[in-house]
Amino acid sequence: MERTHHCNALTKEHVGRQVILCGWVDTYRDHGGVLFVDLRDREGKTQVVIDPQAHAALRAVAKRLRNEFVIAVAGEVAQRPPGNANPKMSTGEIEVRVSGCEILNEAKTPPFVLTDTAEVSEELRLKYRFLDLRRPVCQRIFRLRHEAAQLIRQFLSHEGFLEVETPVLTKSTPEGARDYLVPARNMPGAFYALPQSPQLFKQLLMIAGFERYFQIVKCYRDEDLRADRQPEFTQIDIETSFLGRDTLLGICERMIAQLWKRILAVDMALPIPHIPYAEALARYGSDAPDLRIPWELRDCTDLLRGSPFQAVSAAIDAGGCVQGMVIPDQLPFFSRRLLGELPDVVAPAGAKGVLPIRCDEHGAWASPLAKHVSTGQQHVLMERLGLRPGGVALLVAGPVAVVQAALVVLRRHLAKGLGLLSSTDYRFCWVVDFPLFQWDEVTRRFVAVHHPFTAPCPEDLPHVIKAPQQCRSLAYDLVLNGSEVGGGSMRIHDPVVQQQVFQVLQLSPDEQKEKFGFLLEALSYGAPPHGGIAFGFDRLMMLLTGAESIRDVIAFPKTARGTDLMVDAPSPVAEAQLRELGIQCKPRSPRL
Ligand code: AMO
Repeated sequence: MERTHHCNALTKEHVGRQVILCGWVDTYRDHGGVLFVDLRDREGKTQVVIDPQAHAALRAVAKRLRNEFVIAVAGEVAQRPPGNANPKMSTGEIEVRVSGCEILNEAKTPPFVLTDTAEVSEELRLKYRFLDLRRPVCQRIFRLRHEAAQLIRQFLSHEGFLEVETPVLTKSTPEGARDYLVPARNMPGAFYALPQSPQLFKQLLMIAGFERYFQIVKCYRDEDLRADRQPEFTQIDIETSFLGRDTLLGICERMIAQLWKRILAVDMALPIPHIPYAEALARYGSDAPDLRIPWELRDCTDLLRGSPFQAVSAAIDAGGCVQGMVIPDQLPFFSRRLLGELPDVVAPAGAKGVLPIRCDEHGAWASPLAKHVSTGQQHVLMERLGLRPGGVALLVAGPVAVVQAALVVLRRHLAKGLGLLSSTDYRFCWVVDFPLFQWDEVTRRFVAVHHPFTAPCPEDLPHVIKAPQQCRSLAYDLVLNGSEVGGGSMRIHDPVVQQQVFQVLQLSPDEQKEKFGFLLEALSYGAPPHGGIAFGFDRLMMLLTGAESIRDVIAFPKTARGTDLMVDAPSPVAEAQLRELGIQCKPRSPRL
């Protein structure tokens, strides 16, 4: 029995036609001996009616049917009796009256109900991901993911980009995470690294003269996982030669706008605004600001220095700051209970607490700070914070990084509570003018903020060696609703500048040669000016589909511990395999 139609295809037009459908038994109901089956395939569902009175063979088959059996049915399309139409189904006006039914395969009872609304633990869903993926919500996500990938390929090909594959077994490149290593059997003690990104290969493709490259490519990073991070994830990786930054960003904006238009029917306003890194930190406390939240940070350090309110002045004396933000017109929202919860909200960011100022309709303060400041000082503080009657200010004191991190989580927490975080409100921005380097207290050395191949701002070029902390870079991030969905930079194409950057990063000439000799060599053979970007395809898909977790948009994702519960990876390997690779393991850790 070969299918004639998909399960979404039949309508009143087909009434009277003989058809064959194949799929899974989604549900079945026995109405006085007549079996009503919702048959499901990847396109939709159709009600098929098996009347066992028809003939004995059908009766035998009908008795055996259970949920998730795979069947083929042959029959005639009929209009449903009056009153039985289901307007929620595209096939709701018809049913198929079955004359033949073949069980193609039986199924055990699934460990959970395969509906979109079933409450199932993620662990169980991931262990049986092949069943989980049968749910309509998953089918929809992967259809959209396919469409998005097709659109991107079409768009970039049309813009003159060539898709070129780059190696998976390669050498470590510094994107800031740990590498996954693969032992080389023929060279005991030597390892390949899985690419954290194809960064150097795409630069080499520019030196090779390809001018416009892209690749939808897997990247591998051994890092702490979060709701928007996976150890293997997909990038839309792009590199171009001879283009200015804004032309490149313009191409990217048009690509993203086309995705939003074609997948979501949303018209994005272009160009996407640019926010300098320093401004993003000062206004929103983050280089990935969520622009759906209007409240901006204000600094009150100078106004509260020496304050008799110990918690505040001590933080300032220790070299910290006091910053806050105002939530206007929401006095009733800030109940005693909510205010009591806020210290727990900011604790993971390292902050000791939150100092609230509730300002009533007459401008009077309810705040632990009230008795420590004069009326005049209250006015000055209100002016600085932008606090008006009926509003609430929340202040945090401590080291700058902690204060900013705390205000970022507060912004998110309160905005969620106030219903400001609509997943269909898309606020994009480019964050630009990143610093080139950042001082790392732990290792006591400079690290590259983006990566070591990022070009310094031309005006800062003379200071790379002498004043690294003052150099800005030509890096940029695309941020959507507080999520970094892409990042890139214009690159260094002069081997001398590249060596200077390596020098600031404390790579000795020998290390430079050993790790990046091929790059320095390539840069000396006529490297064109070039720059590029990589978008996190999974993150884009999360935002396009409104998924809560990156795991929802990856067909076979890893858990937060980096494991695959379905195939049981990582897992121990045979002793013989290790011997062949020249690897000896310490006794197995109890966690394995
Ligand atoms: P970057 O490291 O910023 O840049 O990565 C680019 C984008 O990839 C996504 N991303 C991730 N998505 C899921 N899980 C992860 N673990 C993960 N890590 C990163 C983010 C991020 O914006 N080679 C440079 C790009 C360039 O300079 O052209 C790079 O990889 O959305």
